[in-house]
Amino acid sequence: MLSTRLASRIAADGPIPFDEFMAACLYDEAGGYFTAGPLRSVAAGDFLTSPEVSPWFGTMLGRFALGVRRRLGRPGRFRVVEVAAGSGSLLRSLRRELPEGAQIDAIETSAAARRALRGLLGDDRVHSRMDDLPPRFDGVVIANELMDNLPVAVAVRAGSGWEERWVGHDADGFHLVAAPCRPAVARWCDRHAGVVPDDGIVEVQLAAGEWLRAALGRLGRGAVVVIDYGGTAEELAGRRAEGTLRTYRGHHLGPDPLLEPGANDITVDVDFGALVAVAEDAGAVTELTTQAAFLEDLGLRDEIERLRRRERELAASGETMGRLQVRSEATDAETLLHPRGLGDFRVLVARKG
Ligand SMILES: C[S@@+](CC[C@H](N)C(=O)[O-])C[C@H]1O[C@@H](n2cnc3c(N)ncnc32)[C@H](O)[C@@H]1O
Repeated sequence: MLSTRLASRIAADGPIPFDEFMAACLYDEAGGYFTAGPLRSVAAGDFLTSPEVSPWFGTMLGRFALGVRRRLGRPGRFRVVEVAAGSGSLLRSLRRELPEGAQIDAIETSAAARRALRGLLGDDRVHSRMDDLPPRFDGVVIANELMDNLPVAVAVRAGSGWEERWVGHDADGFHLVAAPCRPAVARWCDRHAGVVPDDGIVEVQLAAGEWLRAALGRLGRGAVVVIDYGGTAEELAGRRAEGTLRTYRGHHLGPDPLLEPGANDITVDVDFGALVAVAEDAGAVTELTTQAAFLEDLGLRDEIERLRRRERELAASGETMGRLQVRSEATDAETLLHPRGLGDFRVLVARKG
C-alpha cells in the first residue's frame, strides 16, 4: 500500500518534502490518486469541471484555437494539445469547431483517462507525457484544472525568512515537521509570495512553473492556455493564515491531505502571478483574465441569449421536451460564467510568435 511504502521510506531516510509526498499521493505508479485510480473528472467522481458541466466550454476553446490559427495565417501544420484531458469532454466539443483532419493530441497521466481518450482520438494521439510530442510545433496547448494538482512545497513565513514543512511519520500517522527552507523554495517565495504575515503559509508552485516553461519551450508559434482556480499573490494574501492546500472527495472538501495517501485529490489555489512571470521570462506575451470574461469575449453570452430565445419559441409552440432540453443547455452554459463559481476561475493566455 502507498501509505506503508511512504511510512517505511520516512522511517529509513527521515521526513520528506511536502512536494515529494504530494507527488506520490497523486502520481505514484501503483497507488497514486490519478495514475492508478478510476476516471476522476466525471459526475460519479470527486469533482466536476467546466467541460463536464457544459459542452460550450470546449466549443469556445475550439473557437479560441481557430482564432489563433487564423492569426498565424492558417499554417499547414497546426496542433491542438490538451494536457490533463480527463474523460475527453473538452476535446469532444472542441474538435467539432476545427477543420477536418486537424491534429489533436491528449496528454494524461491517468491510465483510465487514456483509455477513454483513445476511444475518442485513436491510439496514436493519446500520450502519457508531453515528451511524446514533437520537440517543436505551432498550435494551442490547453490545460484546464491541471496546475492545481502539480506538487507544491509548503513554506511558512519565519521572521524575514522562510521555513518549510516536510512530512514525517510516527505511531499516530503522517504529520508535518519544520525543516530548513531549500534555496529554490526560498527564492520562489521571495519573488512571488508577496507580503506574508509571520506563520503565514505559502504553497510553493515550482512544478507548475516548470510545466509552463516546458510547454512554452515546445511551442514555436501559438498559445498556451491555463485555466484553474487561484489568483495573483495579492488576491491570495487573505488565505495565507490557513493556506489553500485541501482535498476533494465526492464533490466536497475531503480530509486532511496527510490522511489516506492516494485516496484523495490534493489541490491548491494556483498562483497566477508566478505563472505570468514564468511565461514572460520565456518571452511570451500574457493576458490574465477570468473564465467569465474569457468565454464572453469568445461569444458565450450571445450563444446563451440565442438559446433563451429558442426556449421561449419552443414554450410558445408547446414543445415541452425540446424547451426543457434547451433550457438545461442554457443553464449549464450560464454555470460556466457564474461570478462566484466557475466564472471566477482564472485564464492565463501566453502567446508566442
Ligand atoms: C481535475 S482533472 C481535470 C480533467 C479535465 N481537464 C477536465 O477539465 O475535466 C485533472 C486531470 O489531470 C490529470 N493529470 C494530473 N496531473 C497531470 C499531469 N502532470 N500531466 C497530465 N495529466 C495530468 C489527471 O489524471 C486528471 O484526469
